[in-house]
Amino acid sequence: MTGRKATVGGLVTANPVWVGSSELTMTLDGLITCIDAGAGAVVAKSVNESAAARRQLDIADYAFVSAGGRVRPAGAARRGDGLLNRSGLAQVDLDDWLALLAAGVEHGAARGCPVIGSITLGDPVAAARIAHAMAGAVPAVELNIGAPHGREASAVRQLTEADAVHDAVRVVRVAVDAPLFVKLPGQASDVVALARAARSAGADAVGLVGRYPGFLPDLDGGAVLGSWGAWGSPACLPMSLYWVAKARTALDVPLVGTNGARTATDVLRFLASGARAVEVVTALWIGGPAALAELVAGVDAYLDARDLDEFVGSALAGAREYKDIPPVRPPAWLPYTARWSRSSGR
Ligand SMILES: Cc1cc2nc3c(=O)[nH]c(=O)nc-3n(C[C@H](O)[C@H](O)[C@H](O)COP(=O)(O)O)c2cc1C
Repeated sequence: MTGRKATVGGLVTANPVWVGSSELTMTLDGLITCIDAGAGAVVAKSVNESAAARRQLDIADYAFVSAGGRVRPAGAARRGDGLLNRSGLAQVDLDDWLALLAAGVEHGAARGCPVIGSITLGDPVAAARIAHAMAGAVPAVELNIGAPHGREASAVRQLTEADAVHDAVRVVRVAVDAPLFVKLPGQASDVVALARAARSAGADAVGLVGRYPGFLPDLDGGAVLGSWGAWGSPACLPMSLYWVAKARTALDVPLVGTNGARTATDVLRFLASGARAVEVVTALWIGGPAALAELVAGVDAYLDARDLDEFVGSALAGAREYKDIPPVRPPAWLPYTARWSRSSGR
């Protein structure tokens, strides 16, 4: 089952459940596995111009963490776990990479599943050069300017100011004659301002939001992974949905949700918040291709009797401004003093 088509920024995809960029999409086998499992689109692993960004892959490490905070033994991850990791970019020559992408595109075309090229920003001019070449092989390019590892290593960047976002996206936009999607960090004072800047610089769609920098002591005098890392978990979902819903309210730009979707219900919540498609990685990492097929089938079954365009953003009708909410009765569990100050008007 491949579900119903989702069109984002001019790109027609098989359904709204996309596989996000990661090591799972770093080989042709990986791309094909995702395509055959029913992905709506697949975003290939990011590349950029920097040898240092590629070397970072040599120190990649991954720790799955239970909701109770325990690091799982290897191979014992569960769907609801968080993931703390280090990662780097694909260790490939650009020509070889473009050939691999082209093979993935060809395989996906037969199933209506586009393969999207991805660049994690290092130097904008170099990103523009790569994006130009990439657009000859793929139908769309995603530019990630929200790398959580960008705070630890300058070979990949996390832009958190609107001017910097605008300038970087502009440089890449003028070099690419294909849909350009820009993936933003969730860790900025005003993510909507970043989305506005990306759109005004010419992004065809905006991805919200990247994973967060994270740190987890192991209480034995050390730290999980022995370093900082990037963090994502199901608990990140409402934080991602916040920015999707806020951007949907403020801007007229197609949105792609990411960060925190582990179930079909999570994907639907992204859509209801305003995303037209959702990039999933960790659920697939833990559950394999069967997990992806399950998400696609679950989303498709729910949308069966509904119009996708109407469903996208539908939750916003139920989200009021604080100022428009009439007083509510204090819940019985509120501490006595809080109830007392509310009733006395203080
Ligand atoms: C191990 C790992 C590697 C990733 N590598 C990239 C990358 O190279 N480029 C990128 O744009 N996003 C990368 N991401 C982010 C994912 O594409 C996705 O946005 C993120 O994992 C949030 O979705 P999830 O909660 O479904 O995992 C990576 C994520 C993980 C877990």
